Amino acid sequence: MDEKNIFYRRLADDDSSTVINFIESQLHTIPKDFFFPPSLIILEKCLNRNSGISLGAFDSEELVGIRLTYKPGLDKENHGYDLGYSETKLLQVAQFWGTIVNNEKRHEGIGDNLVKINCEEIFKNSYSRILATVHPNNLRSIKMLLTNGFSEKLNTIKYNNLPRLIFEKIKVD
Ligand SMILES: CC(C)(COP(=O)(O)OP(=O)(O)OC[C@H]1O[C@@H](n2cnc3c(N)ncnc32)[C@H](O)[C@@H]1OP(=O)(O)O)[C@@H](O)C(=O)NCCC(=O)NCCS
Repeated sequence: MDEKNIFYRRLADDDSSTVINFIESQLHTIPKDFFFPPSLIILEKCLNRNSGISLGAFDSEELVGIRLTYKPGLDKENHGYDLGYSETKLLQVAQFWGTIVNNEKRHEGIGDNLVKINCEEIFKNSYSRILATVHPNNLRSIKMLLTNGFSEKLNTIKYNNLPRLIFEKIKVD
């Protein structure tokens, strides 16, 4: 496995159509209940410099992986509500909305790197809690979160009746 040519950089507003096309191109490779595509509003939040901290993996110019993250603030989608967070903690949350690696590039460490680098950037940006959801059968994704220091917190139902585990990672000073 050789991922030395992969380049990682923050995604921005003008990556929007590339990200949408990438998601569409990968949907058929993902079990239906594993990924709940973001609405355009959430996608905009993920890509905007002020409301999001998302990361792309590029092979030359081609987008081959995404790690979408946004700051939900006090919006009702903040998974911190499910975990009984106080308002102070809710405002510290950066929330994952899907990691996808091109199906021809999986198993090369790209997913793991996307999560690792993204967590470092999030904690540098003064957000001290990261929340992610994952389907209980998505073992690779669960392993990716555990490898990156996340802990399982809750087994619940999200996104129009889909089973989801909520994972949390807290910044250690
Ligand atoms: C989940 C997902 C993002 C993981 O991405 P990935 O790049 O394949 O992940 P990694 O390569 O970092 O790790 C996957 C496996 O490759 C292994 N691996 C990592 N680097 C490796 C290397 N250099 N050589 C060999 N194997 C390697 C890891 O140990 C891991 O193996 P395991 O699952 O048997 O433990 C990817 O599978 C995906 O896009 N899935 C579909 C979308 C999805 O379900 N997303 C999550 C919910 S939103």
